[in-house]
Amino acid sequence: MLKTDDAAQISRSRARSPYMEWAKAHPSVAYNLAASGMPSYTLADFVAAGWVRLADLELTGPAGYGYPPLQQAIADKAGVSPDCVVAISGGCSMANQLAMAAAFDPGDEVLIEQPTYELLVTTAQYLGARVRRFTRRFEDGFRLDPHEVAQAITAQTRLIVVTNLHNPSSALTDDATLGTVGEIALSVGARVLVDEIYLETQYTNPWRSSIHLGDHFIVTSSLTKAYGLSGLRCGWALASPELARAMWHINDLHGVNAAYPAELLSVIAMRHLQEIGAPYRKRLDANRQIVNRWLDERPEMRVARPALGTTVFPKLWGDNSESFCRLLRERYEVNVVPGTFFEAPAHFRMFLGADTPTFTEALARIGMTLELGVRG
Ligand SMILES: Cc1ncc(COP(=O)(O)O)c(C=O)c1O
Repeated sequence: MLKTDDAAQISRSRARSPYMEWAKAHPSVAYNLAASGMPSYTLADFVAAGWVRLADLELTGPAGYGYPPLQQAIADKAGVSPDCVVAISGGCSMANQLAMAAAFDPGDEVLIEQPTYELLVTTAQYLGARVRRFTRRFEDGFRLDPHEVAQAITAQTRLIVVTNLHNPSSALTDDATLGTVGEIALSVGARVLVDEIYLETQYTNPWRSSIHLGDHFIVTSSLTKAYGLSGLRCGWALASPELARAMWHINDLHGVNAAYPAELLSVIAMRHLQEIGAPYRKRLDANRQIVNRWLDERPEMRVARPALGTTVFPKLWGDNSESFCRLLRERYEVNVVPGTFFEAPAHFRMFLGADTPTFTEALARIGMTLELGVRG
């Protein structure tokens, strides 16, 4: 499991992600609420919409630093110039890796929110960071509190890392708060990395990314979560042109070019994000209302109720949700993510993006498990 002590470092050659191993290896069940990305949009959907023909695809394209039409599409979406965009394959995961690699050197100190998406911590450690943490409190709806950042930052901090929306709770952080975090970062010469992958569930295009808060901000995202386009692996980082260039140079060490068919399809997808997102948005809104009504009847659980996002992160009354999650999976065929993967063992993360009948049935099954009195 993660090391959470101050300035923890790990061995690079033994780096691994317990969460990713669990996510890839856990057996599939009938009711999967362990996901966080909307179900796959298919190639057949692209064809049926008349957006793509086989003749439009090609295997090999121009080599260089980014496929220009994709760079431009992401730049237009974010309202930045293309030289601020690093559009890479490998999703938001690779974008985070490049952003971190360009923002600090081994041995530097990195300050990361807690709880968070585990890969942000393990990736920073893999890149040699001394990781410190600051808390986002359940009692405060997991809001990003600049005071906590100010308490934890040191003169050695080179990068502050946050998610917006917050994974796991889906809490939204506004620009004013992020701006304050940016000022705290600037006071010690650090940057702020904002992983905005779940901000895409606002489904607005163009949208206001925190990249506009200053040159010391770096933003990462991808098409994988909100748009059900995980298969394209289309991710990007936004940064000052100078830092973006550094990321491109580091990316040369990881590979030569992206898969061209994926780049072509990503450009097409970027033209149709409103249409692709509309049914997902409708589904999330409907399921959010259902889960809120359901939670009203569930005193066994306390939860910050987000207005956006694909997940909620309830807290059980007990100390640890492991046995609850196990029973839920083994007896009721419902998968949720145990809170241990987010360093919050009393919680579990639940996905809101399953189709509504499946989601409703999964909630009923979670209710049955709660009625058995298993509290962790
Ligand atoms: C906060 C966050 N960032 C990045 C990722 C990885 O995204 P991608 O599939 O685009 O690599 C995830 C996946 O769950 C995530 O939750």
